[in-house]
Formats: sequence, C-alpha cells, structure tokens
Amino acid sequence: MYIDTHAHINFNAFKDDAGEVIKRSLEAGVFMINIGSQYSTSKRAVEMAEKYESGIYSAVGLHPIHINDEKFDYEKYLELAKKPKVVAIGEMGLDYYHSKQDSDKGKQKEIFLEGIKLANKIEKPMVIHCREAYNDLLEILKNNPVKKFGVAHSFCGSLKTAQQFIELGYKIGLNGIITYSPSYDKLIKNIALEDILLETDCPYLNPKPLPRDGRNEPENVKYVAGKISHLKNTSIEEVKMATTRNAKEVFGV
Ligand code: NI
Repeated sequence: MYIDTHAHINFNAFKDDAGEVIKRSLEAGVFMINIGSQYSTSKRAVEMAEKYESGIYSAVGLHPIHINDEKFDYEKYLELAKKPKVVAIGEMGLDYYHSKQDSDKGKQKEIFLEGIKLANKIEKPMVIHCREAYNDLLEILKNNPVKKFGVAHSFCGSLKTAQQFIELGYKIGLNGIITYSPSYDKLIKNIALEDILLETDCPYLNPKPLPRDGRNEPENVKYVAGKISHLKNTSIEEVKMATTRNAKEVFGV
C-alpha cells in the first residue's frame, strides 16, 4: 500500500471524474491526502474525505500564491481543521518564485505564522510549500517550534537544505520532479528512506515515463518510488513499506 501524501483531486482538473480517480487509486492500493490551497478547495478536500470510510484524508490551508485572493480567516480555517478527516494544515509556506515584492514576502511570512499557530492549536503537522525561499522559511521554523513535525512538500532545494529540514524533524516530500533529470540523484542517495514521503502533487508533475503534460493521478506515485528504489539500490517494496510507515507516523492515519 502507498500513501500519496500530496494530491489535489479537490481541484477543478478532476471536477468531472474525481469519484472514478479515487476509486481507481483505492483499487490500486493507493491512499491519498487531498490538499487545499484556498478555503474553497480546502472545504472540498474535507467533504471528499468524509464520503469515504478510509483511504482519503485532507489538509486545509492557504497557499502563499493565493494570499491576495483571500484573507486568511483563522477562525474559519480552525473550524474546518478540527474535523476528524483533516490530518494536516497546508499547503502553506513561502513562494518567492511567484511573488518577488518585499511587501508580498512580509505578508506571506505573516500568514505562514498564522498557519503554524493553527497547526499547534489542533496539534496536527504542516504540509509546507516552499519555492525560492528556503532560508527565510527555515529561519521561521527554527524560531517557532511546532508540536507535530510535517513535511517539506515537493522538495526542490539542495542536499544541505534537506538535511536542515531533517535535523529539525521534518520529512522530505518527493514527487515527479525527481524523475525529470538527475538533479536530485545525489540528494536521494544521501538521505535515509526514513526521511522521505512520497507524493504526486497531481494533477501536476506527471512523472516519467508518462507524458510530462499529462494529468497526473495518485496511482502514479509508483513511478516516484521506482526512481528512488533504483537510486538507493533497494527494492520498490522496501521503498513502499518505509515511506508508507513514515506517512502513517506523520499524519496519524
Ligand atoms: Ni500542491
């Protein structure tokens, strides 16, 4: 059994066939956590999870690229976050790739701190989004202790940065990005399986050998596992077992 720790079946790309995609994933033995990026998609992720007895979970949060579309309403997110099918707060974090203005950076930091406060309040981990902002984000994490350690999702930093997250207690979330080029080979060889979570970030980041622009789905997490097993010279079964154990430990599923 796999757990796709970062899926977006709650996004419009799946509006016509979400039920079929979920059915296909569960039949293939792939559980998933659907991640919100705004209040609307967070709510949809929770409602989806509530329809299933097991296998489908959710995370609620405001993505840094959406902070100008919506005010972060702490109380509203808290209400949602208390629901039993919510296993994390996220995705939240810093994204300097999409907004480079200093005023925006400050606002992103403020809202990320609200996210940490929310995660600590309900004692759930965080699914962290970070792009071109690892130094600022790590500084915030070092100065603001959390009760439950989460994951640096869609990790795209250096080995040294990954090691800093691991030292703090966080897992490294890997997806199709690692199948596109050898850029992450060294990192994967040098971090332990115990520190890795698998994800797809579907509908985005369709892994090789599938077409890069195709719509990704949870079942494809096996290609990410395949690449890791190849690089670590271990069986795909071992990668599956270890990363599923990690996901259960982090998210309590
Ligand atoms: Ni995502």
